[in-house]
Amino acid sequence: MKETVVIVAGAGPSGISTSACLNLQSIPHIVLEREAIYCPIWTKKSYDRLHLHLAKHLCELPHMPFPESYPTFVPRKQFVQYLDEYVTQFKVNPVYNRSIESATYHEDTGKWLVKARNIKTDEVEEYISRFLVVATGETSDAFMPEIKGMETFTGKILHSTAYKSGAPFANQSVLVVGCGNSGMEIAYDLSNFGAKTSIIIRNPLHIFTRWMMSLELELFKYLPYDMVDGIVLLLSKLWYGDMSKYGIKRPQEGPFAMKDKYGKYPIVDVGTVGKIKSGDIQVLPGISTVKGDEVIFTDGKSYQFDVILFATGFHRITKKWLKDDDDLLDDDGIAKQSYPNHWKGKNGLYCAGLARKGLYGAAMDAQNIANDIKKLL
Ligand SMILES: Cc1cc2nc3c(=O)[nH]c(=O)nc-3n(C[C@H](O)[C@H](O)[C@H](O)COP(=O)(O)OP(=O)(O)OC[C@H]3O[C@@H](n4cnc5c(N)ncnc54)[C@H](O)[C@@H]3O)c2cc1C
Ligand SMILES: *[C@@H]1O[C@H](CO)[C@@H](O)[C@H](O)[C@H]1NC(C)=O
Ligand SMILES: *[C@@H]1O[C@H](CO)[C@@H](O)[C@H](O)[C@H]1NC(C)=O
Repeated sequence: MKETVVIVAGAGPSGISTSACLNLQSIPHIVLEREAIYCPIWTKKSYDRLHLHLAKHLCELPHMPFPESYPTFVPRKQFVQYLDEYVTQFKVNPVYNRSIESATYHEDTGKWLVKARNIKTDEVEEYISRFLVVATGETSDAFMPEIKGMETFTGKILHSTAYKSGAPFANQSVLVVGCGNSGMEIAYDLSNFGAKTSIIIRNPLHIFTRWMMSLELELFKYLPYDMVDGIVLLLSKLWYGDMSKYGIKRPQEGPFAMKDKYGKYPIVDVGTVGKIKSGDIQVLPGISTVKGDEVIFTDGKSYQFDVILFATGFHRITKKWLKDDDDLLDDDGIAKQSYPNHWKGKNGLYCAGLARKGLYGAAMDAQNIANDIKKLL
Protein backbone atom coordinates (compact mmCIF):
# COMPACT_ATOMS: atom_id res chain seq x y z
CA MET A 1 0.00 0.00 0.00
CA LYS A 2 1.34 3.42 -1.00
CA GLU A 3 0.22 6.72 0.48
CA THR A 4 0.66 10.17 -1.03
CA VAL A 5 -1.05 13.58 -1.03
CA VAL A 6 -2.57 13.50 -4.50
CA ILE A 7 -3.36 10.66 -6.89
CA VAL A 8 -3.70 11.66 -10.52
CA ALA A 9 -5.64 9.11 -12.58
CA GLY A 10 -4.31 9.04 -16.15
CA ALA A 11 -1.16 10.39 -17.81
CA GLY A 12 -2.65 12.05 -20.87
CA PRO A 13 -2.09 15.76 -21.48
CA SER A 14 -4.44 16.57 -18.56
CA GLY A 15 -2.65 14.22 -16.14
CA ILE A 16 0.89 15.31 -17.05
CA SER A 17 -0.13 18.99 -16.86
CA THR A 18 -1.58 18.40 -13.41
CA SER A 19 1.56 16.54 -12.35
CA ALA A 20 3.76 19.37 -13.67
CA CYS A 21 1.74 22.01 -11.78
CA LEU A 22 1.85 19.91 -8.58
CA ASN A 23 5.62 19.51 -8.96
CA LEU A 24 6.06 23.26 -9.32
CA GLN A 25 4.24 23.64 -5.98
CA SER A 26 6.26 20.76 -4.46
CA ILE A 27 3.12 18.75 -3.73
CA PRO A 28 3.80 15.00 -3.50
CA HIS A 29 1.65 12.89 -5.83
CA ILE A 30 1.45 9.69 -7.85
CA VAL A 31 0.24 9.52 -11.45
CA LEU A 32 -1.31 6.15 -12.36
CA GLU A 33 -1.48 5.25 -16.06
CA ARG A 34 -2.79 2.02 -17.54
CA GLU A 35 -0.68 2.16 -20.69
CA ALA A 36 3.12 1.81 -20.75
CA ILE A 37 3.59 5.39 -22.00
CA TYR A 38 2.28 8.90 -21.33
CA CYS A 39 -0.24 10.52 -23.67
CA PRO A 40 -0.98 7.25 -25.53
CA ILE A 41 -3.50 8.97 -27.81
CA TRP A 42 -0.65 11.00 -29.22
CA THR A 43 2.33 8.70 -28.76
CA LYS A 44 0.80 5.46 -30.03
CA LYS A 45 -2.91 5.44 -30.83
CA SER A 46 -3.29 7.97 -33.60
CA TYR A 47 -2.71 8.15 -37.31
CA ASP A 48 0.40 9.53 -38.95
CA ARG A 49 -1.12 12.52 -40.66
CA LEU A 50 -2.87 13.84 -37.56
CA HIS A 51 -2.25 17.48 -36.70
CA LEU A 52 -3.61 19.43 -33.78
CA HIS A 53 -6.91 20.73 -35.04
CA LEU A 54 -6.52 24.01 -33.24
CA ALA A 55 -3.84 26.66 -33.62
CA LYS A 56 -0.84 25.99 -31.41
CA HIS A 57 -1.33 28.83 -28.93
CA LEU A 58 -4.61 27.17 -27.92
CA CYS A 59 -3.00 23.79 -27.32
CA GLU A 60 -0.15 24.67 -24.98
CA LEU A 61 0.24 22.87 -21.70
CA PRO A 62 0.90 25.02 -18.60
CA HIS A 63 4.24 26.81 -18.24
CA MET A 64 5.70 25.73 -21.60
CA PRO A 65 4.92 27.55 -24.86
CA PHE A 66 5.47 25.74 -28.15
CA PRO A 67 8.79 26.55 -29.85
CA GLU A 68 8.61 29.53 -32.25
CA SER A 69 9.70 27.25 -35.08
CA TYR A 70 6.58 25.04 -34.81
CA PRO A 71 3.93 25.58 -37.48
CA THR A 72 0.53 27.00 -36.45
CA PHE A 73 -1.10 23.56 -36.72
CA VAL A 74 1.34 21.25 -35.01
CA PRO A 75 1.81 17.80 -36.60
CA ARG A 76 1.52 14.78 -34.31
CA LYS A 77 5.28 14.03 -34.38
CA GLN A 78 6.18 17.51 -33.23
CA PHE A 79 3.49 17.47 -30.57
CA VAL A 80 4.99 14.23 -29.25
CA GLN A 81 8.43 15.91 -29.14
CA TYR A 82 6.88 18.75 -27.17
CA LEU A 83 5.27 16.26 -24.77
CA ASP A 84 8.63 14.47 -24.36
CA GLU A 85 10.27 17.75 -23.40
CA TYR A 86 7.38 18.58 -21.12
CA VAL A 87 7.61 15.43 -19.01
CA THR A 88 11.40 15.80 -18.84
CA GLN A 89 11.40 19.48 -17.90
CA PHE A 90 8.74 19.13 -15.20
CA LYS A 91 9.94 15.72 -13.98
CA VAL A 92 6.61 14.05 -14.60
CA ASN A 93 7.04 10.44 -13.66
CA PRO A 94 3.88 8.32 -13.99
CA VAL A 95 3.58 4.79 -12.68
CA TYR A 96 2.77 2.84 -15.84
CA ASN A 97 0.81 -0.34 -16.50
CA ARG A 98 -1.62 0.52 -13.70
CA SER A 99 -5.26 0.28 -14.65
CA ILE A 100 -7.48 1.87 -12.02
CA GLU A 101 -10.35 -0.43 -11.08
CA SER A 102 -11.92 1.43 -8.19
CA ALA A 103 -11.71 4.61 -6.18
CA THR A 104 -13.61 4.93 -2.91
CA TYR A 105 -13.74 7.75 -0.38
CA HIS A 106 -13.40 6.84 3.29
CA GLU A 107 -15.05 9.35 5.53
CA ASP A 108 -13.39 8.10 8.72
CA THR A 109 -9.90 8.85 7.40
CA GLY A 110 -10.90 11.58 4.95
CA LYS A 111 -8.94 9.78 2.25
CA TRP A 112 -9.36 8.14 -1.12
CA LEU A 113 -8.48 4.50 -1.65
CA VAL A 114 -7.56 3.73 -5.25
CA LYS A 115 -7.17 0.16 -6.44
CA ALA A 116 -5.16 -0.32 -9.61
CA ARG A 117 -4.33 -3.52 -11.44
CA ASN A 118 -0.68 -3.92 -12.28
CA ILE A 119 -1.05 -5.14 -15.85
CA LYS A 120 2.38 -6.78 -15.83
CA THR A 121 1.93 -8.87 -12.67
CA ASP A 122 -1.89 -8.93 -12.68
CA GLU A 123 -1.90 -7.95 -9.00
CA VAL A 124 -4.22 -5.34 -7.57
CA GLU A 125 -2.32 -2.61 -5.74
CA GLU A 126 -3.68 -0.05 -3.29
CA TYR A 127 -2.94 3.65 -3.24
CA ILE A 128 -4.18 6.16 -0.67
CA SER A 129 -4.40 9.93 -0.90
CA ARG A 130 -6.21 12.97 0.42
CA PHE A 131 -6.91 14.30 -3.08
CA LEU A 132 -7.89 12.50 -6.27
CA VAL A 133 -7.69 14.06 -9.73
CA VAL A 134 -9.62 12.25 -12.44
CA ALA A 135 -7.72 12.86 -15.69
CA THR A 136 -8.70 9.73 -17.59
CA GLY A 137 -9.85 11.64 -20.65
CA GLU A 138 -12.97 12.15 -22.71
CA THR A 139 -11.77 9.58 -25.21
CA SER A 140 -10.64 6.76 -22.96
CA ASP A 141 -12.52 3.74 -24.29
CA ALA A 142 -13.12 2.90 -27.96
CA PHE A 143 -16.80 2.65 -28.80
CA MET A 144 -18.30 0.58 -31.63
CA PRO A 145 -22.07 0.52 -32.20
CA GLU A 146 -23.94 -2.76 -32.54
CA ILE A 147 -24.93 -3.45 -36.14
CA LYS A 148 -27.19 -6.22 -37.32
CA GLY A 149 -25.22 -9.01 -39.01
CA MET A 150 -21.83 -7.53 -38.16
CA GLU A 151 -20.61 -10.94 -36.94
CA THR A 152 -21.06 -12.30 -40.48
CA PHE A 153 -18.74 -9.68 -42.04
CA THR A 154 -15.95 -11.46 -43.91
CA GLY A 155 -13.65 -8.45 -44.26
CA LYS A 156 -11.52 -6.65 -41.74
CA ILE A 157 -13.00 -4.56 -38.92
CA LEU A 158 -11.03 -1.93 -37.07
CA HIS A 159 -11.48 1.08 -34.79
CA SER A 160 -9.93 4.44 -35.63
CA THR A 161 -7.52 4.09 -32.69
CA ALA A 162 -5.85 1.19 -34.55
CA TYR A 163 -5.53 3.16 -37.81
CA LYS A 164 -2.09 4.52 -38.71
CA SER A 165 -2.17 5.32 -42.42
CA GLY A 166 -4.00 4.45 -45.64
CA ALA A 167 -0.98 2.66 -47.13
CA PRO A 168 -2.13 -0.93 -46.36
CA PHE A 169 -5.56 -0.21 -47.87
CA ALA A 170 -4.58 0.79 -51.41
CA ASN A 171 -7.18 -0.49 -53.93
CA GLN A 172 -9.40 -1.88 -51.15
CA SER A 173 -13.01 -0.89 -50.63
CA VAL A 174 -13.20 0.76 -47.25
CA LEU A 175 -16.33 1.89 -45.47
CA VAL A 176 -15.74 4.52 -42.80
CA VAL A 177 -18.50 4.52 -40.19
CA GLY A 178 -18.66 7.79 -38.27
CA CYS A 179 -18.15 11.26 -39.62
CA GLY A 180 -16.57 13.16 -36.76
CA ASN A 181 -13.16 14.71 -37.22
CA SER A 182 -11.38 11.35 -37.10
CA GLY A 183 -13.69 9.68 -39.61
CA MET A 184 -13.54 12.58 -42.03
CA GLU A 185 -9.76 12.83 -41.86
CA ILE A 186 -9.22 9.08 -42.11
CA ALA A 187 -11.52 8.96 -45.18
CA TYR A 188 -9.38 11.66 -46.77
CA ASP A 189 -6.19 9.79 -45.91
CA LEU A 190 -7.54 6.47 -47.24
CA SER A 191 -8.55 8.10 -50.49
CA ASN A 192 -5.10 9.70 -50.85
CA PHE A 193 -3.58 6.23 -50.55
CA GLY A 194 -5.81 4.88 -53.30
CA ALA A 195 -8.47 3.12 -51.25
CA LYS A 196 -12.00 3.14 -52.70
CA THR A 197 -13.43 5.11 -49.83
CA SER A 198 -17.01 5.55 -48.63
CA ILE A 199 -18.18 7.36 -45.52
CA ILE A 200 -21.51 7.19 -43.75
CA ILE A 201 -23.01 10.59 -43.01
CA ARG A 202 -26.42 10.28 -41.36
CA ASN A 203 -26.75 13.42 -39.31
CA PRO A 204 -26.36 17.09 -40.18
CA LEU A 205 -22.84 18.50 -39.70
CA HIS A 206 -21.11 21.81 -39.27
CA ILE A 207 -17.99 21.97 -41.42
CA PHE A 208 -15.35 24.66 -41.17
CA THR A 209 -11.87 25.31 -42.42
CA ARG A 210 -9.02 25.61 -39.94
CA TRP A 211 -8.87 29.38 -40.30
CA MET A 212 -12.59 29.63 -39.53
CA MET A 213 -12.05 27.64 -36.32
CA SER A 214 -9.18 29.89 -35.26
CA LEU A 215 -11.27 32.94 -36.01
CA GLU A 216 -14.13 31.52 -33.96
CA LEU A 217 -11.91 31.08 -30.92
CA GLU A 218 -10.52 34.61 -31.30
CA LEU A 219 -14.00 36.12 -31.62
CA PHE A 220 -15.17 34.33 -28.47
CA LYS A 221 -12.90 36.69 -26.55
CA TYR A 222 -14.85 39.73 -27.69
CA LEU A 223 -18.35 38.71 -28.76
CA PRO A 224 -21.25 36.67 -27.32
CA TYR A 225 -21.48 33.05 -28.40
CA ASP A 226 -24.59 33.32 -30.54
CA MET A 227 -23.08 36.17 -32.52
CA VAL A 228 -19.85 34.21 -33.11
CA ASP A 229 -21.95 31.21 -34.13
CA GLY A 230 -23.73 33.37 -36.70
CA ILE A 231 -20.51 34.74 -38.15
CA VAL A 232 -18.71 31.43 -38.62
CA LEU A 233 -21.84 29.81 -39.95
CA LEU A 234 -22.14 32.52 -42.57
CA LEU A 235 -18.49 32.04 -43.53
CA SER A 236 -18.99 28.29 -43.87
CA LYS A 237 -22.03 28.82 -46.08
CA LEU A 238 -20.13 31.23 -48.32
CA TRP A 239 -17.07 28.97 -48.50
CA TYR A 240 -18.68 25.57 -49.01
CA GLY A 241 -22.10 26.52 -50.39
CA ASP A 242 -25.04 24.15 -50.16
CA MET A 243 -23.69 20.62 -49.74
CA SER A 244 -27.00 18.80 -49.44
CA LYS A 245 -26.65 17.25 -52.90
CA TYR A 246 -23.49 15.56 -51.61
CA GLY A 247 -25.33 14.21 -48.59
CA ILE A 248 -24.16 16.86 -46.12
CA LYS A 249 -26.72 19.04 -44.36
CA ARG A 250 -26.20 21.73 -41.75
CA PRO A 251 -27.79 21.40 -38.30
CA GLN A 252 -30.53 23.77 -37.19
CA GLU A 253 -28.47 24.89 -34.21
CA GLY A 254 -25.17 26.74 -34.42
CA PRO A 255 -21.76 25.07 -33.91
CA PHE A 256 -21.21 26.30 -30.36
CA ALA A 257 -24.67 25.22 -29.25
CA MET A 258 -24.11 21.77 -30.84
CA LYS A 259 -20.85 21.35 -28.95
CA ASP A 260 -22.15 22.65 -25.66
CA LYS A 261 -25.49 20.84 -25.62
CA TYR A 262 -24.70 17.57 -27.34
CA GLY A 263 -20.90 17.36 -27.26
CA LYS A 264 -20.84 17.37 -31.06
CA TYR A 265 -17.70 19.04 -32.32
CA PRO A 266 -17.78 20.78 -35.70
CA ILE A 267 -15.73 19.21 -38.48
CA VAL A 268 -12.46 20.89 -39.29
CA ASP A 269 -12.10 20.07 -42.96
CA VAL A 270 -8.66 18.89 -44.07
CA GLY A 271 -9.70 18.34 -47.70
CA THR A 272 -12.40 15.70 -47.30
CA VAL A 273 -15.19 17.95 -48.60
CA GLY A 274 -13.26 18.55 -51.83
CA LYS A 275 -12.92 14.79 -52.32
CA ILE A 276 -16.61 14.29 -51.64
CA LYS A 277 -17.49 16.96 -54.19
CA SER A 278 -15.16 15.42 -56.78
CA GLY A 279 -16.67 11.98 -56.18
CA ASP A 280 -13.45 10.42 -54.85
CA ILE A 281 -15.19 9.76 -51.56
CA GLN A 282 -18.70 8.37 -51.66
CA VAL A 283 -21.23 9.47 -49.02
CA LEU A 284 -23.64 6.76 -47.86
CA PRO A 285 -26.63 6.72 -45.50
CA GLY A 286 -26.92 4.55 -42.37
CA ILE A 287 -26.34 0.79 -42.35
CA SER A 288 -29.34 -1.48 -42.21
CA THR A 289 -27.58 -4.87 -42.10
CA VAL A 290 -24.34 -6.62 -42.92
CA LYS A 291 -24.24 -9.96 -44.79
CA GLY A 292 -20.88 -11.55 -45.56
CA ASP A 293 -18.89 -9.02 -47.54
CA GLU A 294 -21.96 -6.95 -48.31
CA VAL A 295 -23.35 -3.96 -46.46
CA ILE A 296 -26.99 -3.05 -47.01
CA PHE A 297 -27.89 0.59 -46.40
CA THR A 298 -31.10 2.21 -45.20
CA ASP A 299 -31.91 3.38 -48.74
CA GLY A 300 -32.00 -0.28 -49.83
CA LYS A 301 -28.76 -0.14 -51.85
CA SER A 302 -25.87 -2.45 -51.04
CA TYR A 303 -22.14 -2.50 -51.70
CA GLN A 304 -19.25 -4.86 -51.03
CA PHE A 305 -16.44 -3.87 -48.71
CA ASP A 306 -13.04 -5.26 -47.78
CA VAL A 307 -12.79 -3.19 -44.64
CA ILE A 308 -15.16 -1.48 -42.21
CA LEU A 309 -13.44 1.18 -40.14
CA PHE A 310 -15.27 2.45 -37.08
CA ALA A 311 -14.51 6.07 -36.30
CA THR A 312 -17.43 5.98 -33.92
CA GLY A 313 -15.69 7.61 -31.06
CA PHE A 314 -15.42 6.77 -27.44
CA HIS A 315 -17.31 6.26 -24.26
CA ARG A 316 -16.15 6.63 -20.72
CA ILE A 317 -16.36 3.96 -18.10
CA THR A 318 -15.15 6.34 -15.39
CA LYS A 319 -18.30 6.00 -13.29
CA LYS A 320 -17.76 2.22 -13.11
CA TRP A 321 -14.58 2.68 -11.05
CA LEU A 322 -15.18 6.09 -9.45
CA LYS A 323 -17.50 5.06 -6.63
CA ASP A 324 -17.95 7.99 -4.29
CA ASP A 325 -18.45 10.92 -6.59
CA ASP A 326 -21.53 12.83 -5.51
CA ASP A 327 -21.80 15.48 -8.09
CA LEU A 328 -18.70 16.03 -10.17
CA LEU A 329 -19.19 13.76 -13.21
CA ASP A 330 -22.31 12.57 -15.01
CA ASP A 331 -22.96 8.90 -15.85
CA ASP A 332 -21.08 9.35 -19.11
CA GLY A 333 -17.96 10.54 -17.27
CA ILE A 334 -18.20 14.20 -18.31
CA ALA A 335 -18.16 17.13 -15.86
CA LYS A 336 -21.68 17.99 -14.73
CA GLN A 337 -21.14 21.70 -14.24
CA SER A 338 -20.25 23.69 -17.27
CA TYR A 339 -16.91 25.41 -17.79
CA PRO A 340 -15.35 27.15 -15.84
CA ASN A 341 -17.01 25.79 -12.66
CA HIS A 342 -16.63 22.13 -13.44
CA TRP A 343 -13.28 21.01 -12.01
CA LYS A 344 -13.83 20.75 -8.25
CA GLY A 345 -15.98 18.16 -6.50
CA LYS A 346 -16.47 17.11 -2.91
CA ASN A 347 -14.02 15.40 -0.53
CA GLY A 348 -10.87 16.38 -2.39
CA LEU A 349 -12.07 15.11 -5.76
CA TYR A 350 -11.18 16.99 -8.95
CA CYS A 351 -11.41 16.45 -12.68
CA ALA A 352 -9.08 17.70 -15.40
CA GLY A 353 -9.85 17.71 -19.11
CA LEU A 354 -13.45 16.53 -18.79
CA ALA A 355 -15.38 19.67 -19.72
CA ARG A 356 -15.13 19.42 -23.52
CA LYS A 357 -12.63 22.23 -23.78
CA GLY A 358 -9.74 20.35 -25.39
CA LEU A 359 -6.12 20.90 -24.43
CA TYR A 360 -6.80 24.50 -23.55
CA GLY A 361 -9.34 23.38 -20.93
CA ALA A 362 -6.98 20.68 -19.66
CA ALA A 363 -4.24 23.26 -19.10
CA MET A 364 -6.62 25.57 -17.20
CA ASP A 365 -7.91 22.72 -15.05
CA ALA A 366 -4.41 21.53 -14.13
CA GLN A 367 -3.41 24.97 -12.88
CA ASN A 368 -6.65 25.57 -10.99
CA ILE A 369 -6.45 22.18 -9.31
CA ALA A 370 -2.81 22.51 -8.22
CA ASN A 371 -3.47 26.03 -6.87
CA ASP A 372 -6.55 24.86 -5.01
CA ILE A 373 -4.74 21.93 -3.41
CA LYS A 374 -1.85 24.22 -2.43
CA LYS A 375 -4.34 26.51 -0.67
CA LEU A 376 -5.95 23.63 1.21
CA LEU A 377 -2.67 22.14 2.42
C1 LIG B 1 -7.74 12.36 -32.80
C2 LIG B 1 -7.86 13.47 -31.77
C3 LIG B 1 -7.43 14.77 -32.07
C4 LIG B 1 -7.54 15.81 -31.15
N1 LIG B 1 -7.08 17.05 -31.47
C5 LIG B 1 -7.15 18.06 -30.56
C6 LIG B 1 -6.61 19.36 -30.83
O1 LIG B 1 -6.09 19.64 -31.89
N2 LIG B 1 -6.71 20.33 -29.89
C7 LIG B 1 -7.28 20.08 -28.67
O2 LIG B 1 -7.33 20.98 -27.84
N3 LIG B 1 -7.80 18.86 -28.39
C8 LIG B 1 -7.76 17.84 -29.30
N4 LIG B 1 -8.28 16.61 -28.99
C9 LIG B 1 -9.04 16.45 -27.74
C10 LIG B 1 -8.19 16.32 -26.46
O3 LIG B 1 -7.52 17.49 -26.20
C11 LIG B 1 -7.19 15.19 -26.53
O4 LIG B 1 -7.94 14.00 -26.65
C12 LIG B 1 -6.27 15.09 -25.30
O5 LIG B 1 -5.43 13.95 -25.47
C13 LIG B 1 -7.06 14.96 -24.01
O6 LIG B 1 -6.17 14.78 -22.93
P1 LIG B 1 -6.60 14.04 -21.61
O7 LIG B 1 -5.37 13.88 -20.80
O8 LIG B 1 -7.73 14.75 -20.99
O9 LIG B 1 -7.15 12.64 -22.08
P2 LIG B 1 -6.36 11.41 -22.76
O10 LIG B 1 -5.33 11.90 -23.71
O11 LIG B 1 -7.39 10.47 -23.24
O12 LIG B 1 -5.59 10.75 -21.54
C14 LIG B 1 -6.25 10.00 -20.54
C15 LIG B 1 -5.27 9.00 -19.99
O13 LIG B 1 -5.90 8.24 -18.95
C16 LIG B 1 -5.56 6.88 -19.09
N5 LIG B 1 -6.63 6.09 -18.46
C17 LIG B 1 -7.92 5.99 -18.83
N6 LIG B 1 -8.59 5.18 -18.00
C18 LIG B 1 -7.70 4.74 -17.08
C19 LIG B 1 -7.78 3.88 -15.95
N7 LIG B 1 -8.92 3.28 -15.58
N8 LIG B 1 -6.65 3.66 -15.23
C20 LIG B 1 -5.48 4.26 -15.54
N9 LIG B 1 -5.35 5.09 -16.60
C21 LIG B 1 -6.45 5.33 -17.36
C22 LIG B 1 -5.48 6.68 -20.59
O14 LIG B 1 -4.71 5.53 -20.92
C23 LIG B 1 -4.82 7.99 -21.02
O15 LIG B 1 -3.42 7.92 -20.99
C24 LIG B 1 -8.16 15.55 -29.90
C25 LIG B 1 -8.60 14.26 -29.60
C26 LIG B 1 -8.45 13.22 -30.50
C27 LIG B 1 -8.94 11.83 -30.12
C1 LIG C 1 4.40 -2.48 -19.11
O1 LIG C 1 3.95 -3.73 -19.52
C2 LIG C 1 4.47 -4.14 -20.79
C3 LIG C 1 3.80 -5.42 -21.21
O2 LIG C 1 3.39 -6.21 -20.13
C4 LIG C 1 6.00 -4.27 -20.67
O3 LIG C 1 6.55 -4.63 -21.93
C5 LIG C 1 6.58 -2.92 -20.24
O4 LIG C 1 7.97 -3.02 -20.03
C6 LIG C 1 5.93 -2.43 -18.95
N1 LIG C 1 6.40 -1.07 -18.73
C7 LIG C 1 6.67 -0.60 -17.53
C8 LIG C 1 7.17 0.81 -17.45
O5 LIG C 1 6.52 -1.26 -16.51
C1 LIG D 1 -3.65 -0.95 -57.25
O1 LIG D 1 -4.17 -1.07 -58.54
C2 LIG D 1 -3.36 -0.50 -59.55
C3 LIG D 1 -4.10 -0.57 -60.88
O2 LIG D 1 -4.72 -1.83 -61.04
C4 LIG D 1 -2.01 -1.23 -59.58
O3 LIG D 1 -1.16 -0.64 -60.53
C5 LIG D 1 -1.37 -1.13 -58.20
O4 LIG D 1 -0.16 -1.89 -58.16
C6 LIG D 1 -2.30 -1.64 -57.12
N1 LIG D 1 -1.70 -1.35 -55.80
C7 LIG D 1 -1.68 -2.26 -54.83
C8 LIG D 1 -0.98 -1.85 -53.56
O5 LIG D 1 -2.20 -3.36 -54.89
